[in-house]
Amino acid sequence: MKRKVIIDTDPGIDDAYAIIAALNNEDLDILGITCVCGNKGIDIVVANALKLTQLLNKDISVFKGAITNMSNIRNKTIDPIDADQVHGADGLGNTNLDYDDHNLANISAIEFIINTIKKYPNEVEILALGPLTNIGLCIEKDLETMKQTKAIYSMGGGIDKGNTTPYAEFNYYYDEIATKLVYDQLQDHVKIYMIGLNATHSTRVDHNDLAFMLYEGDMIGKIIHNMTQVYGQLYYRHYGYLGAVIHDMVAYLYMIDRNVADKVFTGVAIEVKTDKEHRGQTTIKKDIKANVNVVMHCNPDIFKSLMIKSLFKDKYEKYLKVKTI
Ligand code: BDR
Ligand code: CA
Repeated sequence: MKRKVIIDTDPGIDDAYAIIAALNNEDLDILGITCVCGNKGIDIVVANALKLTQLLNKDISVFKGAITNMSNIRNKTIDPIDADQVHGADGLGNTNLDYDDHNLANISAIEFIINTIKKYPNEVEILALGPLTNIGLCIEKDLETMKQTKAIYSMGGGIDKGNTTPYAEFNYYYDEIATKLVYDQLQDHVKIYMIGLNATHSTRVDHNDLAFMLYEGDMIGKIIHNMTQVYGQLYYRHYGYLGAVIHDMVAYLYMIDRNVADKVFTGVAIEVKTDKEHRGQTTIKKDIKANVNVVMHCNPDIFKSLMIKSLFKDKYEKYLKVKTI
């Protein structure tokens, strides 16, 4: 039986890698793509999810979710979010792909997630690639149903690592309230896999990989190559290295193949900080057991092989033989 998966996402270049791979994976039944404000405002991320379903010719429904984080929702304000310098003006590296609305659903992401888990209790896995606002709102609305989620794979957080502040990663920083709700309310009931910065920063896509995608990956390869240019520049200017960390792809690959990870803390409980200085910081609670597995390190070679295999199945053998100088 195929695994039932909801992709909750804010595409985003690295989200796009994971979505393309997941939509091409015949072992997964992608029940829907739920969008959340994060890398860009909600209308742009919804448009991007629609673009990706159409690029791959898939009739998978896209649901509009939270328009801002839980703190703003509670205070009835919206702060315009813009990660232009990370993901480009269109959120997909200025690739400006075409799309229409035929995959756009007419119920909200929150209704869809709750209805789907009610329909398939303990069967639905959520691949959460953005801020956890949609899941937080679902918990507020129907905690008992959310406890029947089979698993959540969340790209976010980090132990002693941050990328938005010295303490916090972007997804968890942007909605620390939702993040706290998810861990406080679900970690005793649901398997949660935290694939944070410790895991993602042990992997990389480099310029040889991107060249291979451009030369061998047909139309999709060219788009991924082009999309990654904006993102790659940021890594060079910000961290001083050539190549990029494709965070959300690491979460996806861990969901489909545990071999990508070589160090995981299992059965721990996570504490999420919400004070101003440490907003969104994640720490492991001492001496307390729960259902969280924190991926601490990945094998970079296995990551690359799995990435190419999941994006361009028929090119994998060739990739293994390519020589670099
Ligand atoms: C996370 O933030 C976003 O920029 C990426 O899409 C990823 O989900 C990394 O901190
Ligand atoms: Ca993301």
